[in-house]
Amino acid sequence: MTILVTGGLGYIGSHTVVELLKNNFQVIIVDDLSNSEKFILDSIEKVAGKRPVFFPFDLKRKELLSQVFDAYQIDGCINFAAYKAVGESQEKPLDYYENNLFSLINILQEFKVRNISNFIFSSSCTVYGQADEQPIDENTPLKTPESSYGKTKQMGEEILKDFATAHQRKVSLLRYFNPIGAHPTALLGELPIGVPNNLVPYVTQTASGIREKLNIWGNDYETEDGTAVRDYIYVVDLAKAHVKALQKLIASNEDTVIDIYNLGTGKGSSVLEVVEAFETANDVKVPYQICERRAGDITIAYANADKAEKELGWKAETSLEEALRTTWEWQKYLESRNS
Ligand code: UD1
Repeated sequence: MTILVTGGLGYIGSHTVVELLKNNFQVIIVDDLSNSEKFILDSIEKVAGKRPVFFPFDLKRKELLSQVFDAYQIDGCINFAAYKAVGESQEKPLDYYENNLFSLINILQEFKVRNISNFIFSSSCTVYGQADEQPIDENTPLKTPESSYGKTKQMGEEILKDFATAHQRKVSLLRYFNPIGAHPTALLGELPIGVPNNLVPYVTQTASGIREKLNIWGNDYETEDGTAVRDYIYVVDLAKAHVKALQKLIASNEDTVIDIYNLGTGKGSSVLEVVEAFETANDVKVPYQICERRAGDITIAYANADKAEKELGWKAETSLEEALRTTWEWQKYLESRNS
């Protein structure tokens, strides 16, 4: 079967493309390289032993997208292409709504007219906001996200539910907790642009001396050590969940399917625990200082991922330390490329 992977050269996208290729799917990537680089395509080929078809364009360009659907018999889509910086989304909300939602709608229009089903959407635990109870399962009530980025994820979910219902299609909404780590080959990983916002890339760059100190945003939260708690999920485990979710949609005899899964480990780790795990895993020091809380941060979020285990036969397998070890190997690879 042939799967369109939008944003397939990005962080989670590239790892998922590898898993799809390993499972004998044909892959067509559309990626505008706005947050990725062309060498990732070569890395995918090295890791998977196959080179996916690649088109570099922006999904808002409907006519180009249509040509891809004309040229290939597409059986499904995994849609990673989206802007994802929380802070930036507050400064440029229209860019976020336009990019994240128009590109989604353009693909769905093609799905509609060509009668294609099987759509997987990258959602986020951000749709839950600060949940009243932990762990968070799929029935936990959604709250209005703080950021425009988060709102595009909630809106994307609603668009897909309406689409699936109105046109009898199969969709899966995957709510990621905090993805971390890199491919065990150290050929694929996250490529933060400029100063990283997310914790693990910042920790990694601090360990390598690119940043002087990690700023820990607050140690006065109501958690065991006072720092905020998240559920850090290894990116390769996350990638595998996409293949399982896709296989389930394909195998389903129902006309309409709306699957929703939390993808996390089920375990919460504090910022200080992440720093310590990184230091232990890699035998390096991460200098840090405690700062004021970051605006918009929640105290605690970790998943109940039992539904994915029960229905997809998927479970996170990789420890925090192991994931952080792969991150460090990836950082060393990036530095060797630049030297
Ligand atoms: C955010 C988004 C989430 C998005 C994810 C990945 C929200 C509520 N969450 O998650 O939707 O999918 O980014 O882009 O919108 N921290 C530090 N110092 C740093 C960086 C982070 O102490 O330099 C702390 C944060 O305060 C937080 C934790 O580390 O407690 C994780 O932060 P981060 O990696 O940015 O992810 P989230 O904010 O959880």
